[in-house]
Amino acid sequence: MLSSQTGQCRKAGALSSIFLKLARNGPDPSRAKTSTRRLLHRRRSRPEGQYLARSVGNCSGCHSPLNQLTFSLNGPEYSGGVALEPQAFSGVDPTVWFEPPNLTSLKGSALDRFPDRETFVARFQRGGRKHQYSPMPWELMGRMTSADAGALSEFLHSLPAAGKPSPQEPTVKHVD
Ligand code: HEC
Repeated sequence: MLSSQTGQCRKAGALSSIFLKLARNGPDPSRAKTSTRRLLHRRRSRPEGQYLARSVGNCSGCHSPLNQLTFSLNGPEYSGGVALEPQAFSGVDPTVWFEPPNLTSLKGSALDRFPDRETFVARFQRGGRKHQYSPMPWELMGRMTSADAGALSEFLHSLPAAGKPSPQEPTVKHVD
């Protein structure tokens, strides 16, 4: 009687250790749910990113090849813009212009330097201005929330590759 009880106890012990192992190492359904939720959330934030890029942030206005007379698109949107004058401060060399780089998913584009949501958001929130007189308003854009910068990242990364790779140095010499 005693020995069979001990045997049952042992069996129960072995079973519970198998369950424990499964719980520790087996597929974790709660984790799977989280990543699906995250994926869906990311998909849903693309339209929001598109809205920010086209209107409030005007990313499209600078980073797209626009006809300078009609402002209609001359090529794929966000594939790189026409060179812009530097900010008008005293002492600025007016002949050093800035080319808004390619923000599509093309390999070698400026977006490619920030391959995921986290690095993209960090570039905006902590990266700051790298080119003193660039017309891109980094100070304003650095105040974007993580959700807004993240939505922009999701949207831009969803764009098909287009245009040319962007050089690290965005300045060009402008002669009239
Ligand atoms: C007024 C024009 C202008 C607007 C508006 C603008 N950009 Fe830019 N952007 C530039 C120029 C010029 C550069 C290149 C010089 C520089 O890095 O400041 C640039 C550079 C960048 C870079 C490359 C940064 C790096 O470190 O390599 C990214 C990414 C970028 N812009 C994203 C955006 C996004 C996203 C928006 C909209 C929320 C936006 N830009 C709006 C002009 C603009």
